[in-house]
Amino acid sequence: MTTPMSQATLAPGEPLLEVDNLRTYFSTLAGTVRSVDGVSYTVRAGRTLGVVGESGCGKSVTALSILRLVPTPPGRHMGAVRLRGTDLMQLSEREMRQIRGNRISMIFQEPMTSLNPVLTVGRQIAETVQLHQKASRAEALQRAVEMLRLVQIPEPERRVNEYPHQLSGGMRQRVMIALALACNPEVLIADEPTTALDVTIQAQILDLIKRLQKELGMGVVMITHDLGVVAESCDRVVVMYAGKKVEEADVVDLFDRPLHPYTRALMASMPAMSTSSARLHEIPGMVPAAHELGRGCAFAARCAQARERCRRETPPLSTQGDGHVVACFAVQEQWTDEAAEVSA
Ligand SMILES: Nc1ncnc2c1ncn2[C@@H]1O[C@H](COP(=O)(O)OP(=O)(O)OP(=O)(O)O)[C@@H](O)[C@H]1O
Ligand SMILES: [Mg+2]
Repeated sequence: MTTPMSQATLAPGEPLLEVDNLRTYFSTLAGTVRSVDGVSYTVRAGRTLGVVGESGCGKSVTALSILRLVPTPPGRHMGAVRLRGTDLMQLSEREMRQIRGNRISMIFQEPMTSLNPVLTVGRQIAETVQLHQKASRAEALQRAVEMLRLVQIPEPERRVNEYPHQLSGGMRQRVMIALALACNPEVLIADEPTTALDVTIQAQILDLIKRLQKELGMGVVMITHDLGVVAESCDRVVVMYAGKKVEEADVVDLFDRPLHPYTRALMASMPAMSTSSARLHEIPGMVPAAHELGRGCAFAARCAQARERCRRETPPLSTQGDGHVVACFAVQEQWTDEAAEVSA
């Protein structure tokens, strides 16, 4: 095994996983689909990074690309994904298997399809433990019971012998979390971990992830289209639109001062956050199909502030120097105007 031996724990806030200009393209009959088109973000130890955006913007494909779970072909990757400096894109498949479920774990969007229906939940957790760690069958099963207890499943000694269909949706989601955490991963990627659950259980699951993160010092990527979940659980947020990062900021900053017209529209579409009305606003227009994307800002067709330039050129990401990053010509021009006023 070539994975590094157990490494010193990182202090909270230190960079753990760096996604660097990641591109994931699919070859299809309709042309090349650029599902992830130059995304960069950093996951830090003990911190939660939220990734938000409408359906189809590339949140899941980014996550699956990090773990190299996208089938290639039809997919292909460019860019780097560095786990404590090691570029995962350069590892062999064998080395990658030592990373998945062990150093980087993922809670998948579909709990029922990612649990094996013919194995008891205990066996599934135990097999993951045995795959990555030296443990006898009995020790691994004992670990499974401990994990079920950790995720607050009542009567874990009995539940460990049950099959997924015998559990409620909320419990299955807890089993998914137990499975993801069984090997004490450094990074947990949670893809819509609570979308299918009712609000009370949703809050419990988010609390649980937060508590375990504190205990284990994990870096967490929280993928969601729900800004309420972001406000509740994230330290920093990446907003994606049509395969690109369009804005990134600390969570408080993003809610205080959303800059990108898309982020603003997203916030206005949230009933609880909208100041003007409790009614849910729809963002007019549709996300362009990925193979239809041409030059220019992908949001221009739906944007009230779009100008000629937005349809011709793709706005680059830029920052005012406070760690709030945005890709929008309208915002950048405003910055330039403000700077000119100050110096005048
Ligand atoms: N194997 C594939 N071949 C072609 N296109 C694909 C493939 N897998 C994903 N895509 C496309 O990539 C884009 C991004 O998909 P992705 O699943 O990452 O969206 P998402 O942001 O996770 O959406 P949701 O919120 O619905 O989960 C979509 O347009 C999708 O159709
Ligand atoms: Mg998804």
